[in-house]
Amino acid sequence: VEAQTIPLLARAQAEARRAEWLFTAPNPRVGALALKNGHLVGRGFHRVHGGAHAEEQALRDAGAWDDRAGRPVPGRVDEMVVTLEPCSAAGGEKKRPACTELLRAAGIRRVQVGAVDPDPRHSGRGLALLREQGIEVVHTPDGKAGFEELNRAFLRGLLYRERPWVLLKWAASLDGKTAAETGASRWITSLAARAEVHALRAASDAVMVGRRTLTGDDPALTVRHGSAAGASPPVRVLVDPEGRVPDGARIFQARGPRLWLLREGCRPGPALARRLAGEDDQALPTPVRPDGRLDLAHALRRLRLDFGVRRLLVEGGAVLHGGLLAEGLVDAVVRYEAPCLLGGTRGAVVGGGVDSPRQALRMVEEEQARLGPDLRRAFQVAEEQQH
Ligand SMILES: NC(=O)c1ccc[n+]([C@@H]2O[C@H](COP(=O)([O-])OP(=O)(O)OC[C@H]3O[C@@H](n4cnc5c(N)ncnc54)[C@H](OP(=O)(O)O)[C@@H]3O)[C@@H](O)[C@H]2O)c1
Repeated sequence: VEAQTIPLLARAQAEARRAEWLFTAPNPRVGALALKNGHLVGRGFHRVHGGAHAEEQALRDAGAWDDRAGRPVPGRVDEMVVTLEPCSAAGGEKKRPACTELLRAAGIRRVQVGAVDPDPRHSGRGLALLREQGIEVVHTPDGKAGFEELNRAFLRGLLYRERPWVLLKWAASLDGKTAAETGASRWITSLAARAEVHALRAASDAVMVGRRTLTGDDPALTVRHGSAAGASPPVRVLVDPEGRVPDGARIFQARGPRLWLLREGCRPGPALARRLAGEDDQALPTPVRPDGRLDLAHALRRLRLDFGVRRLLVEGGAVLHGGLLAEGLVDAVVRYEAPCLLGGTRGAVVGGGVDSPRQALRMVEEEQARLGPDLRRAFQVAEEQQH
């Protein structure tokens, strides 16, 4: 290891720290530096799931990216420092081109890497490919610890290859209520908080709600606010076991894929039956568990394996949250807390309760933000409680 690689790697790790797992998971938080003749000319990090990787961001920052052609401009960067082995695979579940290919196209001659990809399917392949392309690869072994510390969500995601990474989201009052006693919940939080939820949707492959939220709140579940508006929309997943959604529901107004979790053998109502004959809507017949509830684990497995959903945002309601909790299908929670009291009985999670606080699902790795008058807090399930 050359002495100068350490401080550069530490700077790349500082870039990685600028990413929030709330937006990148289950992708890793990765930072990169671009150099030319030993001088720092660009830096970047992977900001959002489905967005540009750190290497591409650093090339862009260095002015080494041709937007029209969608590829690097060769010769402007000759060295890159990156906290994680560059990815070498494209296609399949991957949304971006392989970074090894970007580095080659940029004419990079030397790459310093902090951590080898912990995913056994890719581990070392990126480094081997770079070397095959005649690029000098310097691997800094002590980059592993810094990478792992930042990447709990990514490492947890690697354990679950047969279901998406699952994020529950709700808006709550100070007393933890997500609706007034009548069921009305619009709006508990400010516009600033609600706008961030649209960014969370844009970063997700799919967005899910339960039947009572679907019919009671009548959400469109589209991405309307912010820079992500108009990007390829997440699949909307509706847990409507009997397929009774009414014809005028807002969910039907915007085009884009919808998946209906129906009880196996159910005959959907006329509104849905008609839609299922069209292009946008598809039924996902789901078996029923002995307790009468839909087998959500089965449904999530299909979402991942058949529909490529790696990141699932669940937007309520409480019964659906409880079902996922009971089946051990929760990876993280984001809560938007408004400074108000709602009283009543409508908590954020119903069902999936434990007998003692000792059995509580412990959460860690908080990420916080102030959004207008509201406080956003995001937490991941602690590692020792993995299912
Ligand atoms: N503040 C917030 O962030 C927020 C977010 C969302 C919702 N809300 C509020 O929450 C309330 C709705 O929540 P909710 O808890 O009453 O209902 P919900 O979770 O939205 O929907 C429950 C229904 O979904 C179906 N379902 C969910 N999980 C199932 C499973 N495992 N198996 C089978 N069916 C399942 C069932 O439909 P069937 O009854 O058809 O069998 C069930 O009755 C509304 O008042 C809404 O305004 C607040």
